[in-house]
Amino acid sequence: MSQILLAGGAGFIGSHTAVELLDTGYEVIIADNLMNSSAKSITRIEQITGNQLKFYQLDIRDTEKLEALFQENDISTVIHFAGLKAVGESIGKPVMYYRNNIDTTLSLLECMNKYNVKNIIFSSSATVYGEENPVPYNEEMKKGSCTNPYGWTKAMMEQILEDTAKSDKSMSVIILRYFNPIGAHETGLIGEDPQGIPNNLMPCAAQTAIGIRDHLTIFGNDYDTPDGTCLRDYIHVTDLAKGHVKAVEYAQKNKGVEIFNLGTGNPYSVTEIVETFEKVNGVTVNHVYGPRRDGDLPNCYANADKAMKMLGWKTEKTLEDMCRDLWKWQQMNPNGYKD
Ligand code: NAD
Ligand code: WQD
Repeated sequence: MSQILLAGGAGFIGSHTAVELLDTGYEVIIADNLMNSSAKSITRIEQITGNQLKFYQLDIRDTEKLEALFQENDISTVIHFAGLKAVGESIGKPVMYYRNNIDTTLSLLECMNKYNVKNIIFSSSATVYGEENPVPYNEEMKKGSCTNPYGWTKAMMEQILEDTAKSDKSMSVIILRYFNPIGAHETGLIGEDPQGIPNNLMPCAAQTAIGIRDHLTIFGNDYDTPDGTCLRDYIHVTDLAKGHVKAVEYAQKNKGVEIFNLGTGNPYSVTEIVETFEKVNGVTVNHVYGPRRDGDLPNCYANADKAMKMLGWKTEKTLEDMCRDLWKWQQMNPNGYKD
């Protein structure tokens, strides 16, 4: 089967996608500069699948090295995960975010054009629906105003990809808008390995349960939601990874641009998910309620019908699975890949 390049594939979502692609029979090539990941994830992917993959440690913006990679291989499809993703950091360092995220996309598109690679799948985010759209979000809605530079990089990269596909009708561009990916591989061998203090809820909850952090602060319990805390569409990272396999199959058979939400369509509150994590794992997550976090929307969840209809994809894992698998990863790797 054809070779799939995973740009940024050593990270959280890329490593899980590599496992699913290898299990389906694809050849996988990962290119990553490891700025937010570890080479250990590569050996773990090989351990889980019993398959080998090719790994290039390089910055996607380094076009000379990227070109060499395209020359040495026969890539049919690129999956573009490479980017910086911490919302708070992007507010303090917008130029770094625009430089890295936009430049990786441009380098990939230039190389693809030069080496006649026509299919690209892009990691976008529900954040592009912005503040204006009502939930559940569907792909027909216009993009909204993002609350931070990270979100704007995603909105801009979507535009760049759409314009590129318009200029070359032989291309297939698939934009995947992820909701809130959490959990870990069921083996506990790969998972999310935040550097420093985690920004996202569930890594913070797991680190609190294991004693790395003293407590979790729940940001706001005065929202207009059933229990006052925000609602989100949490999706198991393995379900998300399987969505990429479906997207590869689709991209290889169709041309043009398609956007798909990858979410479950089921919103859960912060309090609900923290309590579920405690219950299924028999642990305590010390938590306090604090003020709202700037930029948080009360409610964010997907209408996931389009991916089901057109990709034949639907989520299989429950909220309990997400919490159980995250805890297994946290227990087996208390310091992430650092041990
Ligand atoms: P991650 O940080 O674990 O993975 C991204 C990978 O890209 C890392 O391994 C990093 O080292 C690599 N990278 C970054 N810049 C690079 C560069 N210039 N050259 C080479 N490698 C580079 O993040 P993730 O959670 O796996 O997210 C993957 C993609 O999905 C990102 O684009 C992210 O913005 C997007 N996304 C993530 C979430 C989420 O909640 N995790 C939600 C929506 C969208
Ligand atoms: C979830 C809920 C917080 C931490 C972000 C990006 C999005 C996508 C996924 C990127 C919110 C609450 C959190 C904590 C808390 N990213 N929370 N205490 O903000 O929905 O989405 O990550 O690539 O683009 O915006 O995810 O996990 O940060 O927050 O109470 O310590 O948990 O307020 O309601 P979010 P999150």
